[in-house]
Amino acid sequence: MSEDLWTPHALSNAELSIPELSIPALSDSDGVVAGSVTLIIPTFNEAGNIGELLSRLADSLPAHLPCEVLFVDDSTDDTPAVIEKAALDLPFPVSVLHRESASGGLGGAVVEGLKRADTDWIVVMDADLQHPPHLVPELVGEGERTGADLVVASRYIPGGSRAGLAGSYRIAVSRGATWLTKGLFPRALRGISDPMSGFFAMRRAVVTADALKPLGYKILLELAVRCRPAKVAEVPFVFQDRYSGESKSSAREGMRFLAHLAALRSATPLARMIGFGLIGLSGFVPNLFALWLLTHAGMHYLPAEIAANQAGVLWNFVLIETLLFRDRRRHRHWADRIGRFVVLANADLLLRIPLIALFVGRFGMEVLSATALALVTTFVLRFAATEALVYLPRKTRSRTRTARPTRS
Ligand code: GDD
Ligand code: MN
Repeated sequence: MSEDLWTPHALSNAELSIPELSIPALSDSDGVVAGSVTLIIPTFNEAGNIGELLSRLADSLPAHLPCEVLFVDDSTDDTPAVIEKAALDLPFPVSVLHRESASGGLGGAVVEGLKRADTDWIVVMDADLQHPPHLVPELVGEGERTGADLVVASRYIPGGSRAGLAGSYRIAVSRGATWLTKGLFPRALRGISDPMSGFFAMRRAVVTADALKPLGYKILLELAVRCRPAKVAEVPFVFQDRYSGESKSSAREGMRFLAHLAALRSATPLARMIGFGLIGLSGFVPNLFALWLLTHAGMHYLPAEIAANQAGVLWNFVLIETLLFRDRRRHRHWADRIGRFVVLANADLLLRIPLIALFVGRFGMEVLSATALALVTTFVLRFAATEALVYLPRKTRSRTRTARPTRS
């Protein structure tokens, strides 16, 4: 084997296309070998764990399992240099992909690794030894044995436990998050008792890396929901204590997780419309609260109604931006988006009255049913208009632009 296969590469963002990450000696003409594994390990300031991790991996990986290790690193400490040093006498190739900007956090790092892996299997694990390295061959072996596309290391099946999850608070949060997630995705997560696990093996062929939009920690959830592996298996594991250093997850990670759930759940138009409706209903709370404040401050109830309605509209805007159209906001300036959103929300109110008059006067409907129908109609119209006029990327304009000579 040539020298550079044994040497880690520290890469900057400018050098992201790195074909030499595959192991030519082990690949067939398609670049894929049965049973070959890329171990993707995301790292953020894990210098104290690298030596122990690599030596335990060296003890655990059987000689017949063609395996390469790829660290995807966002560290601000000397983790890449430590990896480089520790990797020198290992029986498997080790690479480091260092990213200049940590986009997508832990999940974004794993997706960068997935894009570069061309082995049969990928295994994702943490660097802090909370995931026992000796289970790596077992995960892949279970997949080969059962024909599963995804094998999850689970804390919640017999033989598994969450010994290393620090404190009852974190245990409760983890349990709650698991229930919520399983409740939201009963079909995609069937057979997965631990969708929050960060330790799993997946067949590379099942991973559609381009369809992934990871957000924070829950990369297994992202893969299970967006790639829909046909068959899943689980292997129990005991979540260990961290070997060195501290967890990088924070309260902000919790918010990202909720945003991630919302993004996954609202991938279809119908689901988005339901989300839009639920957010709209929640807007009654700030609306009524503002109305109460303003009328108590002595404002006449009619202008107060109009002003309070804007409070509800703003509330809706913030939730819709962060939960529903998070990945479709960039093509318009926020001031443009909020302007359009407010106009549409108020147009909805203005349209409702003539619509009710039409239903009652022309079609002879009851006032109550006319109002209900008008509510539903303006709701659907407002949803469609908000999607089309606020959040739809402006494709046609860029097409006409390329057809014309550009002016600058
Ligand atoms: N590249 C990169 N970028 N790596 C990161 C980042 C990042 O922004 N944030 C964290 N990591 C790396 C850490 O260095 C570590 O190797 C691994 O991701 C897990 O990070 P921890 O900070 O140790 O996470 P945890 O122990 O709180 O959470 C783990 O267990 C949870 C189950 O309770 C993770 O595996 C979660 O995915 C899992 O849900
Ligand atoms: Mn950890």
